[in-house]
Amino acid sequence: MDLYSLLRPLLFRMDPEKAHDLAFAIGERICEWPKLPDADIPKELHRTVFGLDFPSPIGLAAGLDKGARLLPLWKSMGFGSVEIGTVTPRPQPGNPKPRLFRLPEEGLILNRMGFNSEGAEVVAARLKHRPDGLIVGGNLGKNKETPEELALEDYRAAYRLIAPLVDYSVLNVSSPNTPGLRNLQAPEALKPLLEGMLALREEMGLGGQPLLLKIAPDLHESDLDAIVDVAVACGIDGLIATNTTLDRGIVSEARRARVEAWGAGGLSGVGLRPKAREVQRRILARLDGRMPLVACGGIGTGAQVRESLADGAALVQVYSALIFAGPGLLRTLHQSMTGS
Ligand SMILES: Cc1cc2nc3c(=O)[nH]c(=O)nc-3n(C[C@H](O)[C@H](O)[C@H](O)COP(=O)(O)O)c2cc1C
Repeated sequence: MDLYSLLRPLLFRMDPEKAHDLAFAIGERICEWPKLPDADIPKELHRTVFGLDFPSPIGLAAGLDKGARLLPLWKSMGFGSVEIGTVTPRPQPGNPKPRLFRLPEEGLILNRMGFNSEGAEVVAARLKHRPDGLIVGGNLGKNKETPEELALEDYRAAYRLIAPLVDYSVLNVSSPNTPGLRNLQAPEALKPLLEGMLALREEMGLGGQPLLLKIAPDLHESDLDAIVDVAVACGIDGLIATNTTLDRGIVSEARRARVEAWGAGGLSGVGLRPKAREVQRRILARLDGRMPLVACGGIGTGAQVRESLADGAALVQVYSALIFAGPGLLRTLHQSMTGS
């Protein structure tokens, strides 16, 4: 029996955020071990995307390790990449608690964390000690009090501190928990944002570093097409789809009232998969190979990873499945992908 099987019943009886904090406290102790075991990732799973070498196509999605606190642990679990953040330029507390809820019966999570962030300076200091052999992405956002018209300045401020210390950067314009953030997905707002960030990347001599955009699953088809067109025209390097959904229709009818009583927030996990996959397939068709797509949203089995890669995604990311399955998830997924 592994440590997580013992801990899981305790963690799932606790308030979700307290369980998160406890798991992170334990994780930090584990990261202090001088020699964490290396994950055994089958060699055939290696792939090169954006010119970067990913030991596995499966990455940890943004939002779990917002402050880059457990990088050696994720590496040891077998993640090929970890997206830290969302990091905001200045520290901010996020929304009042409670802001994190679990529905284990359906493998769903609702969150309205609202970018709780230690701020880019603190996170950058930690990234200076990142482990080798793990691809690290920096997911960036704006502070809550920054007005929409000044959003670019926030993304630039966070980028200046984080980008030199990571392998790729992501502009998160798709969290539902920062008022107005998703408006940045509108083509007339997106174009100046992308152009402004690409100009900064050049200025900083980071021209070779991939810049990605993470988008929501709740867009109308025509808006989705427009975003893809702007991304391609501006010349960013890739897309991540999707973030959490506002759609309560992904919860079974029997449990919908319970979830609605939790209030505002984005849903992730098993039920998000069909919706996210539909969005991913539409993007892939529109992209027609012009840039890589990272598939995220409700992925939790080896078959789903294979399906997404067969759809044409270059990489996949998981978050909710790890909460429900625990640290053995990556070994299970890798075994199922290689038939070993
Ligand atoms: C508690 C929680 C916090 C999250 N925070 C962020 C975040 O800060 N930035 C971000 O881009 N995505 C964030 N996400 C979204 C995930 O990265 C991912 O896009 C989403 O959960 C769908 O994947 P999943 O179904 O595998 O969880 C968060 C998700 C959860 C559950």
